[in-house]
Amino acid sequence: MKVLVVGSGGREHAVIKKLKENPRVSQIFAAPGNGGIAEDAVTVDIAATDIGAMVDFAVKNGVDYCVVTPDDPLVLGMVDAMEEKGIACFGPRKNAAIIEGSKVFSKNLMKKYGIPTAAYESFDKCEDALRYLETAPEKTVIKADGLALGKGVIIAETRDEAKAAVISMMRDKKFGKSGERIVIEEFLSGPEISVLAFTDGKTVKPMVSSMDHKRAGDNDTGLNTGGMGTVAPNPFYTESVAETCMRTIFLPTVDAMNREGRTFKGCLYFGLMLTSNGPKVIEYNCRFGDPETQVVLPLLKSDLFTVMQAVTAGTLSETPVEFENGAACCVVMVSRGYPVSYEKGFGITIPESLKDKVYVAGAKKENGRLLSSGGRVLGVTAVADTLPAAVKQAYANVAMIHFKNAFFRTDIGKRAMTAEEK
Ligand code: AMP
Ligand code: GLY
Repeated sequence: MKVLVVGSGGREHAVIKKLKENPRVSQIFAAPGNGGIAEDAVTVDIAATDIGAMVDFAVKNGVDYCVVTPDDPLVLGMVDAMEEKGIACFGPRKNAAIIEGSKVFSKNLMKKYGIPTAAYESFDKCEDALRYLETAPEKTVIKADGLALGKGVIIAETRDEAKAAVISMMRDKKFGKSGERIVIEEFLSGPEISVLAFTDGKTVKPMVSSMDHKRAGDNDTGLNTGGMGTVAPNPFYTESVAETCMRTIFLPTVDAMNREGRTFKGCLYFGLMLTSNGPKVIEYNCRFGDPETQVVLPLLKSDLFTVMQAVTAGTLSETPVEFENGAACCVVMVSRGYPVSYEKGFGITIPESLKDKVYVAGAKKENGRLLSSGGRVLGVTAVADTLPAAVKQAYANVAMIHFKNAFFRTDIGKRAMTAEEK
């Protein structure tokens, strides 16, 4: 079987490495992929959002199955376009990807179906939003409606900060069309948990839980990033929390999408916050998380391609999705200065013994050498019997990888390990 994986990050590299384990997968194309992915797949220079060119490539090259991994092609309808040409896909259709593509949609869905989330109001006029803020709580969260490369969420400590955020999105159009509508949300607090779940629209099979580390600096300081590291499982996700989430969030969400005529098939990502009033949804994503995938898939015991095909075929209930009992930690190595400004183009050395454990995100190949080409350069994962052992091994792996101006957080897993000790 020829499989095409759309995307170019560490997450896609993790998906590809796992797909390679299935002997039925005879060839993997990655579009556009990156210099590191090129070691594991045939990279094809087509932008992830170029639906026309992607479908043409898939048809001409006899692709049997396409995994659409990033949010933007999903929201733009790449799965629909592939299916029209008879190519089976992993990922939701456009009408279901809206669960990530529009925060107003997802908030309204949760309100309509009683799924626990932060209280909110949505606005499509700047003046109305500003007027609302006059009497809103001091601390609020302002969210652009559409996709904004993970930057469309602003936690405003004061009303003035909230007003500035509203003006930057709605009047100054900082996020273009994505900020034409906004959501103003109640600020919630508590530990965050990421749960990725396979669903074929009928059955929901959650994967092992994980914890992202979004801030650039140690102890959760500095700017928000695309993710500086992850651990799995997340110790805050106890059996009782998992049971509550399944009953009050996961099943009701899949059911709500069905009732709306927007059946969701693929990987549904639940960004959860464990508040004093129980778990609440912070966000939905219509895809695998990055860098959550880099700790979740290495723990997957079942065959990924088989599970993906079951999702497509609607036979997930009969297909086992099992995880190892151990733990995993992924530390992301970035270019110093990320997420603001950074230098790139530096040679990367990765020892042969670590090749399977490294998921490359921002690197290109030039004259046979791997050079840094982005903010997040790569992630290094370690799997062990316990979380402390996985964290220790991940950092031992980091110490063996070198490129100029490399930077990484030194405390990935610390919060999780402290929670485990309690
Ligand atoms: P998102 O891009 O939606 O994942 O949001 C980025 C981060 O903002 C989340 O991981 C949370 O840490 C934080 N966040 C989003 N919504 C809220 C909220 N209502 N209360 C507190 N923090 C939030
Ligand atoms: N790690 C968060 C995300 O993938 O959106």
